[in-house]
Amino acid sequence: MSDKHKIIIDTDPGIDDAMAIHLAFADPQIEVVGLTCIFGNVNQEQATRNALWLAESAHYHCDVVSGASQPLVQAPNEPSYYVHGDEGFGDLGAQSPVGAAHELDAADYIIQMCHAHPGEITLCPVGPLTNIAIALQRDPDLVKVVKSVVIMGGAAFVPGNVTAYAEANIWNDPHAAEIVFAADWEVVMIGLDVTSQVTCSEDDYKLIAKGSPKIGQFILDISQFYTRFYHSVLGEEVCVLHDPSAIIAITNPELFDYRREPIAVICDGDEIGQTVPDSSLSRTPTKIAVGVNVDKVKGLYLSRSAKADAAKARRSQ
Ligand code: BDR
Ligand code: CA
Repeated sequence: MSDKHKIIIDTDPGIDDAMAIHLAFADPQIEVVGLTCIFGNVNQEQATRNALWLAESAHYHCDVVSGASQPLVQAPNEPSYYVHGDEGFGDLGAQSPVGAAHELDAADYIIQMCHAHPGEITLCPVGPLTNIAIALQRDPDLVKVVKSVVIMGGAAFVPGNVTAYAEANIWNDPHAAEIVFAADWEVVMIGLDVTSQVTCSEDDYKLIAKGSPKIGQFILDISQFYTRFYHSVLGEEVCVLHDPSAIIAITNPELFDYRREPIAVICDGDEIGQTVPDSSLSRTPTKIAVGVNVDKVKGLYLSRSAKADAAKARRSQ
């Protein structure tokens, strides 16, 4: 058995998703088994094309799998083109992958892979939780074979980012999120409580591009649209490292402080999408990240991402 972290990233790439995926590809401690795709920042088809292209551009051999194209119950929200650009990669146009998606859909793929590697796979959803919820509905025994679920999503003790209450990934499918937080498995929530604190400037991205002139330049290029978005909402020239923070929480959980409490997701009304810690609930407590060592998380993000081209070169030999 390899001592690497075997992970499936469930993703809607997406600028910070692309950053998280390249970070995972560059980290020798991680084996990305598959990228399962979901609507959110872009539609499902675009998410799958982008994920295929990200893997191909890094010469990374992993499965890329299409997933759900709409939420479980509610009508779909518009993709967040204003945050991630028309194609999901900021100012860059459409990319054309040559490969095709896996024959299974995301939920069946997750079920099959997790049963094939019991206790070994960490699910890392960094988009809406629809694929994970469908997998649980199809196979309630999934909870017994998954190692843990490290989610970028939610806001426990801070306001949301799409409404005063809701973080985007949960808001895009609150009913799915409620199923995932209610299940009896280890869920780690890397929400806005911590991810909003971890930011990078253009100079930081230039360092990544200096270390990795190909993949790093792509990261620098896509960061510019995201920085303009964050400038419009925060008044600062930064990118917020939401999705990369969840990847670092898998390899370096010690860089976060946690509180264990069950989470309920509000599924209607003005507060729809809110993730509410509630100790009176009789469900497995979620490990909620409430503090983060910002300098170390950011430092690891920069140093690991700067090695993306070198990791690709080793894979290409
Ligand atoms: C989350 O929403 C998306 O826009 C990002 O990719 C991230 O997963 C942050 O709220
Ligand atoms: Ca995302």
